[in-house]
Amino acid sequence: MAVDLLLGLQWGDEGKGKIVDVLTKNYDIIARFQGGPNAGHTLEFDGIKHVLHTIPSGIFHDNAVNIVGNGVVIDPVIFKKELENLKKFNLDIASKLFISRKAHLILPTHRLLDAASEASKGKAKIGSTLKGIGPTYMDKTGRNGMRVGDLELENWKDKYRALADKHESMIDYYDVDLEYNLKELELEFCEGVEELKKLTFIDSEEYLHQAQREGKKILAEGAQGSLLDIDFGTYPFVTSSNTTAAGACTGLGVPPNKIGKVFGIFKAYATRVGSGPFPTELFDEDGKTMARVGNEFGATTGRPRRCGWLDLVALKYAVQVNGVTDLMMMKGDVLSGFKTLKICTSYNYQGKEISHLPYNIEPENVTPIYTEVEGWEDDLTKMSSDEELPNALNSYISFLEKELEVPIKIVSVGPDRTQTIHR
Ligand code: IMP
Repeated sequence: MAVDLLLGLQWGDEGKGKIVDVLTKNYDIIARFQGGPNAGHTLEFDGIKHVLHTIPSGIFHDNAVNIVGNGVVIDPVIFKKELENLKKFNLDIASKLFISRKAHLILPTHRLLDAASEASKGKAKIGSTLKGIGPTYMDKTGRNGMRVGDLELENWKDKYRALADKHESMIDYYDVDLEYNLKELELEFCEGVEELKKLTFIDSEEYLHQAQREGKKILAEGAQGSLLDIDFGTYPFVTSSNTTAAGACTGLGVPPNKIGKVFGIFKAYATRVGSGPFPTELFDEDGKTMARVGNEFGATTGRPRRCGWLDLVALKYAVQVNGVTDLMMMKGDVLSGFKTLKICTSYNYQGKEISHLPYNIEPENVTPIYTEVEGWEDDLTKMSSDEELPNALNSYISFLEKELEVPIKIVSVGPDRTQTIHR
């Protein structure tokens, strides 16, 4: 049985959580493959909004097992809070949430190192979520990290101490003002570890391999977006993992020839949180309207998101890198009321028109070239079928499908589970 993937095609916050929740009824297993609590996956149903950071977005369904894969980095402190938030829903967490032994742990000192590194960069800072993501992946690739499986060892605290002590000397190296009480942070960390240890740790690659042999349907859930990928994103303003399709192979142990459908999610416009180039960014009333109507504030940090027109050059690149088979367009409802809409179809790159994403998309190199299309007035949020959609929106969708050469299978018209049109 093939493993389907679901991932973001822009700079994150496309609405992956909502769609995983919508699709979970079709799957037996939902497996998160990378990132950590820098993610904020938002789901809404029955009038309640839920934000998940590490726990996969299939957790609210009885039919599916949820796996935190080896490619994920886990902060036990945040994980404990997530579990506490779920308590009131009486979910049988113990039997439906399994953690890979090979997933790496975010230590309190990783968070401090993230803060120190960002503070030392001044204006050049990445705009990290300060959750310790970069330093944890650095320890992973530097072969110094601590993994979930280490917590099964008697002496895990010795390993912890050695790594935390090393981190403390690295924090000193940055020579920035950072106030912290490590003892308190460590107490919190140990409490988080105790909660984590109540869950079942598994060799997730083996579990998934067996599940495939038994014909179980698996959906791999990505976090962040393709333009934040450590290799293919707008480096260095990226996150520290592979957010693109290949990340699901390494982040779960799924062989490439077992990947089935690749669901690519994008917003009908574009947003970005944190620093880094964003060619179609708007600084005018249109941008402010998108931010207001789309409630564009980070689900993890609360920071306002930068907004702009849809960038087809960047989107095509993401479709190619991921091998997207099915597209899903989110937040079409936010564009209702714009008389005309702009879509960036090529760039003026150092005086030449190009239609691929170049190495450097800083504003001094790139100016977007737009195609203007007609907008729509209608409120989409109560619409439930393709036939009800206004003609101008159908033209917008057809234009994108033609340019991207991939069908748009879902149009989301609001944050709730039910506000989802299948095509
Ligand atoms: P980090 O992953 O916390 O190190 O942040 C690196 C960059 O990725 C920053 O620009 C963050 O704002 C951005 N980022 C990380 N996670 C997310 C996410 O889930 N959604 C949107 N942006 C994110």
